[in-house]
Order: sequence, then structure tokens, then C-alpha cells
Amino acid sequence: MTAEYQVHGAVAVITLNNPPVNGLGLATRTAAVQGIQQALADAAVKAIVITGAGKAFSGGADIKEFNSPKALAEPSLHTLIATVENSTKPVVAAIHTVCMGGGLELALGCHYRVALPGAQIALPEVKLGLLPGAGGTQRLPRVLGLEMALNMIVSGTPVASEKLAGTALFDAVYEAGSDLLAQAIAFADKVADARPLPKVRERKVDYPNHEAFLQFSRNTVKAMAGPFPAPLECVETVAASVTRKFEDGLKFERERFLHLMQTTESKALRHAFFAERVASKVPDVPADTPVRSIKQAAVIGAGTMGGGIAMNFLNAGIPVVLLETRQEALDKGMATIRKNYDNTVKKGKLTAEKLEQRMALLTGTLAYADIAQADIVVEAVFEDMGVKETVFRQLDSVMKPGAILASNTSTLDLNRIASFTSRPQDVIGLHFFSPANVMKLLEIVRGAQTGKDVLATALALAKKLKKTGVVSGVCDGFIGNRMIEQYSRQAGFLLDEGALPEQVDQAIEKFGFAMGPFRMGDLAGNDIGWAIRKRRAIESPEITYSRSADLLCEMGRFGQKTGGGWYDYKAGDRKAYPNEQVNAMIVQHSAQLGITRRQISDQEIVERLVYSMVNEAAHILEEGIALRASDIDMVYLTGYGFPLFRGGPMFYADTVGLANVLAAMAQYARGYQGSAWQPAPLLVKLAGEGKGFNS
Ligand code: NAI
Repeated sequence: MTAEYQVHGAVAVITLNNPPVNGLGLATRTAAVQGIQQALADAAVKAIVITGAGKAFSGGADIKEFNSPKALAEPSLHTLIATVENSTKPVVAAIHTVCMGGGLELALGCHYRVALPGAQIALPEVKLGLLPGAGGTQRLPRVLGLEMALNMIVSGTPVASEKLAGTALFDAVYEAGSDLLAQAIAFADKVADARPLPKVRERKVDYPNHEAFLQFSRNTVKAMAGPFPAPLECVETVAASVTRKFEDGLKFERERFLHLMQTTESKALRHAFFAERVASKVPDVPADTPVRSIKQAAVIGAGTMGGGIAMNFLNAGIPVVLLETRQEALDKGMATIRKNYDNTVKKGKLTAEKLEQRMALLTGTLAYADIAQADIVVEAVFEDMGVKETVFRQLDSVMKPGAILASNTSTLDLNRIASFTSRPQDVIGLHFFSPANVMKLLEIVRGAQTGKDVLATALALAKKLKKTGVVSGVCDGFIGNRMIEQYSRQAGFLLDEGALPEQVDQAIEKFGFAMGPFRMGDLAGNDIGWAIRKRRAIESPEITYSRSADLLCEMGRFGQKTGGGWYDYKAGDRKAYPNEQVNAMIVQHSAQLGITRRQISDQEIVERLVYSMVNEAAHILEEGIALRASDIDMVYLTGYGFPLFRGGPMFYADTVGLANVLAAMAQYARGYQGSAWQPAPLLVKLAGEGKGFNS
């Protein structure tokens, strides 16, 4: 059953029942329309109440039907709303908990609306790059007024029902905890014979000097929306509620909705929405896999990462013991955590009381005995296999049975780390990103012997820590860093051939990246890549790099922490200033290589940086390191600042067309360091079949 029908005296009650949020899927819409028809046919029924079972009135469209023909099949949401609005018996929406999107549009089609306080009222379509397409943009301004409706539609942010009491949206907002259904039935009884039936569509949107307000809104929204077209389209459709007749406004809304559906930006947002949901699903780890309980955590190493990782647990209310080798390092790490929280308090985003609560959950130690009872331990010591070995042998000997032993390593072989213990099934990689208390991404590295329950626990933990968990197999750099390696190599080769750091950074930032490779290097520390290249020179001498990054490090320019790297920096200013000696070094290095420097286009820069990653990603997918293309997109959207409106590297490659990507790669393969452009077999195969990574 997806909508139940019952009669209470002279009132029919239709209860939407499609868990979890009574999404308005085809079956629910059908049952609701039938309910109205049944009520109209029954002479004993004088009025109708629509409400929702469980934890919502209705959350709107049924996401299970997104992108399926069912979403638009008859009776469509339009038909349902028209059926309600044209009912000759009054229809009362009884709203509680959640009333969003199509759910709110349905309520606006009812003749009356009553609610409990605390219900989340929203039209959140803009967050998926769309606008409310079932009358929301025309009806909401008619009950809330132009300004408030516009704010809600452009932002998509929920407003609590009690804040909207007194507007024409609600005929009554009852007391918290009172019996909504009983009051709605009483209300319906009271209005059963009142005629004419009030219709939102017949109201007028009054706003003195609306043109000035709309123009102001266009300007502000345009500045805030960046590359996304939906917010401005929201303004234009809401404007139509003032400037056009209702039916024309509705038609206009439909047209703009259908237009937005086709935009790459909306497709990218919807892709990301589903990618996030599917990322936590692992085919051979069913949803009912038992998880281990995590009530106490330990973190080894109180450096940059260890401190941030500890904060994640503290924020989730999980006590943490932080272990270091030396008291000074421990004190410094603990002080940094407090300082970070202090800054959040200063910004008004945390209360002083909460700060103390969180700090009270944190203890420091130098002794392994103090962490033995932790349910999970995350190691974040130096990136050195010898140090990792010492730590994991110790963990193996002290930790209680069943404790999860996690490593935050960014490049090292997790299977080797697991082999230092007698319990490889308990070992997993939890790869946080810097700053670990801020970045959303958590790469969950599944070792050859990692237990399924350990993996399921890590995925659940990611949610608890409010991270996006993405599973990766074991390889050098896992998903994210393995791809960025190719991007960095191309960035270096571009310098050898004729570009300067600021041109490369500006080109890719214009494409939409939060930060270009050279500014990023300066922020993270260029010495990290230097150490990795030194290791690779021994392990994989066939991999080529531009020497310019090494030369930069030889100049002592590690980045912001040493006062400068590819760029100079000024105190109190995050801007990057080009440095003449660095640029001269780059030019001189080209000369030493015998290269005549050339003008390189921004298009070439972007293609080489992005396609080199895409090609590596195709290998990653083919090798089963990533479970699906959308996981790779999630890694890049949440951990690497890839522009959201482009949907991630794989989605982007799909929009360009894989055959076009391949053709560009073939061209670069004829140029400098062309051997870097060996296409991955999967890319060739999909391009040949006219398919995309995500199709
Ligand atoms: P860091 O140098 O800031 O901190 C390492 C800390 O570990 C130091 O405080 C050191 O005293 C402590 N330590 C060293 N040996 C220890 C031992 N045997 N027992 C206890 N503590 C010990 O290094 P960072 O940047 O925090 O990196 C830690 C790990 O996280 C590395 O594996 C690194 O590859 C990884 N990682 C680093 C990222 C970054 O952006 N810095 C990002 C993601 C992962």
C-alpha cells in the first residue's frame, strides 16, 4: 500500500505511505488520485484530509524513480495536484516533520493546510540544479509573498513550519506534540460546507515596486550562483508569478524546468547526489553485514594529520587517546587541537561549552598500555615503512582482540603493513585528507585480507564522522593520489615546454579547480612530492618527471611553510606572487633540455592535466581498485577540489565524449614526453563502443 484510504465520519483521510519519506512515486500518486476519486464518489464524505505516515508528510519526488520513465508517468505530480485543486470537496493537507519539494507543491494545491511545529518546509530543487517544476514557483509566492518565497526557492533551505505561522501558507499551526490528525479532521469538518473553495492559484502576489526588487535579486543571485544556471532561473520563474497570469506562469515554469533538466550543471549535481549514495555500497559486503561497535578511539601520532583525525572522533562524541613518542610532540599536538577549536569558537560556530566538552573527551599518552582497550586505532606517524612496521608490531601485541587497526598512509602498501600483525583481517586503510577535520573525503583502503565486517564498520564510521567514504583497493597512491600523480607530471612537463606556474594554475582554476597544482604544492609542501620521487627513482626508475620541482626543492623553497615555493607569499595575505628566480630557473631548465619554449594554450593545459588523470582512472577502474566510475568522481569532488558543476573527472570525460578525449590524447602522444599518453585499454574499448564511464 502506498497511500491508505479511511473514512472518519464525514471526512476521508488519505495517508501517503511510501517509506522512508513518502516520496511521490508512481504507485503513491496513483493511490492518492484514486483516494480523491473515491471520496468524491462517496456522498457521505464531505471533506478530505491528506497526510503522511511515519516520519514525513512527503519529501517530494521518489528518488528511486529518478531518471526512470515512472517519474513522469500518469498520473504525474501535475495531474495529482490538479485533481486535488479541482476537487469539489475541500482538501486539507495535514503537515508534519518533512514537507519538501513535490510534497510542498502538493500541499499548495490543497484548499487548506494545517501543520505541527518543527516541520521542515522547503523547495530544495535548486540543490540538484533544478527548480520546483509542479507549480511551486507560482504558488509559494502567492502565500508567502515574493521576497520570502524567492529566498526559499533560490536557496533550497528548509524553514521550520512555526516560523511560517501567520502566513497564508498555513490555516493553522497547532501545538507541538498535539494530535495532528484529530485536529485536521476537526478542521475539515468545520470547513466542509464553506464555498467557494479557496485556491492558492487565485491569490495575487502583491509587492510594491516588484521590478526593483527583482532586479536587485537577479544581481545578487548572479554573483552567488557562479557557473550554476538554476538559481537565476528560479528568480525568473518566481518573477513570472508577479508578472504573468497563473496559467502562463505555470507554463513558463515547466519550460524552464525542462531546460534545466538538460543542462550539464544539473546533470552533474544529480550525478554527484547519486554517486554519494552509491559509494557506501560494496557488492560483496551486503547491507546487513555486522559492524563492530566503536565507542573508544586511539590515534598514533599527533602531527598534522593525527590531530585532525582525533578532532573528527571528538566531534562525533567518541573519546580519543592520542599517543606520541615524545612529550613535547604530544603537548604541541594537543595545543593545536585546542587552538583549532578556539578559532571555531571565535568564528561563532562552536560554543565555549561545547569546546570544553570535546576537549574533555581527549587524553594524551606516551604509553601503548593506555590505548589497549580502544575499539579502533588510527595510525598517522611518518610516511616510512620502517616506522609503520614498529608501530603495527606494537599495536598487534597490545590491542584488545577485535580492535580495528587503521593506517592513514597515503602511498604505502597496506598489505605489507597488515603483514606486520598476526591479524591482517583487522587492518584497513583510513586515508583522511588535509585538513582532516575539514575535508569530506575518506578513502577507505581495503587490503587483501581486510574483514568484511571491518570494511562495513569503516563505511558506517565514515557516515558517523560526516565523511564521504569511498572504497579503494591497494595500489601506490590509491585512487586519488595515483591520479593526481599524472596530473602533477603533466604540470611539470608544461613548465619544461613553455608555461609558467601562474599560467598553469590560472588555466585550471578558470576551468573550475579550487586551486592549481603549483599553489597546491606550495600549500601541501613541495618536499612531500620530492620524497616520493626519490623513492620512485629507486622503485620505478622508468617513470619520468620534470626536474623543475626537484630544482625548486634544492633552492630550499618547500612552499608556504618555508616562506615560498613556486610563488612568494606575504604575511597575512594568501595571494601567490610569482618569483623571478623560480621562473628563471624554469626557463633555464628548458634550455638545458634543449627545448625551445613555446606559447601553450589554456585549452592544452586543461586537457593535459585532466585527461592524464582520466586515463589513469581508466586503469584504476579496470584493475578493480575503484568499484565504479562514480566513486572516482566522488574522490575528486570531495577531496581534490574538482569543480562540482563538471561532475568529477569521469563524468566530465563522458560529457566531452571519450572518443574526443582519446583523439586529444593521440595528439599529445606525438609531443614532448609523449610516452605518458599510452591510452588505457578500457578507455579505448568504451570510446570504440560509443559509451561513457558512467553509462
Ligand atoms: P607529521 O610529520 O605532521 O606527523 C607525524 C607525527 O607522528 C609526528 O608528530 C611524530 O612525532 C609522530 N610519530 C612519529 N613516529 C611515531 C611513533 N613511532 N609513534 C608515535 N608517534 C610517532 O606527518 P603527517 O603529515 O601528519 O602525516 C602522517 C601520515 O599521514 C603519513 O603516513 C602521511 O603520508 C599521511 N597523510 C598525510 C597527509 C598530509 O597532507 N600531510 C594527507 C594524508 C595522509
